[in-house]
Amino acid sequence: MELRHLRYFVAVVEEQSFTKAAEKLFIAQPPLSRQIQNLEAELGIQLFERGSRPLKTTEAGQFFYQHAIKLLSNAEEIKSMTKRIGIADRTITIGFVGSLLFGLLSPILYLFKQRHPDLKIEMMDMTTHEQILALKNGRIDVGFGRLRISDPSIKRILLREEPLMVAVHSRHPLAQHREGLYLADLLDQQLFLYPNIPQANFSSQVRGIFSEYGLEPRNVRVVRELQLALGFVAAGEGVCIVPQSARNIHLSHLIYLPLLDEAAVSPVFMTMRNLDLSEDIRYLLDCVYQVYEAEGIPHQRTTF
Ligand code: BEZ
Repeated sequence: MELRHLRYFVAVVEEQSFTKAAEKLFIAQPPLSRQIQNLEAELGIQLFERGSRPLKTTEAGQFFYQHAIKLLSNAEEIKSMTKRIGIADRTITIGFVGSLLFGLLSPILYLFKQRHPDLKIEMMDMTTHEQILALKNGRIDVGFGRLRISDPSIKRILLREEPLMVAVHSRHPLAQHREGLYLADLLDQQLFLYPNIPQANFSSQVRGIFSEYGLEPRNVRVVRELQLALGFVAAGEGVCIVPQSARNIHLSHLIYLPLLDEAAVSPVFMTMRNLDLSEDIRYLLDCVYQVYEAEGIPHQRTTF
């Protein structure tokens, strides 16, 4: 059995048709059918229910499919890791979610560059979901994001739980609460959330925190990105919940108040491929902790 057989089998299962799988694989249908027959002969079992339309796997075929996709994903990972190790000039490519750039990402990168001037650093702005995919196909080496996404081939380190704040206009009645606000104070406000992408994101995280307390904001408007939400708030349109590091974004009449509910935090994660034991990633993690220590940010050190 070769990887090629697994690829063919996975394509047939996913397309539920030999014809469509052959098109996807750019081969003719008869050799594809022969390869699957050879595979079944080697295993001594049937992988597909005979005569089923659309094509269905047998119980054994389903088991084989689950393991075949893992094996293929491992093979891709080994390929991208080997290429990375073989590259003579050291490069580390970092994926990050945009909101991290306003806070500690800049000082962390600055320190990392000072410490490792020989290392080429490339930065890519992408969602946490995109980071997982990009780690697996070798486009990035490290991801910094906010979502708790699990994947068997990805290692995830929780760096810290960043407090959340409420951005309000300085003349908004809530602006008097300098000591801070509770989620319950925001229920009737026009609440700007972001971003407006379909997958889980910061806005779903914020809604999740409301529902942890059995609350639901009544007047929500979802906008494309953080800057837009803050722009509306500065224009006196409503309020917005942001990670604490966003308070570095200054707009006239915009003030940031602490959010006092205990669960009002947003996690910051660092992710990397399970198989990646590169020293450069360790050095980067060291820089994260050094900046935390310099800024007095509570955290728990993790090693890998
Ligand atoms: C942070 O804000 O904790 C952070 C931002 C970017 C990279 C790592 C950590």
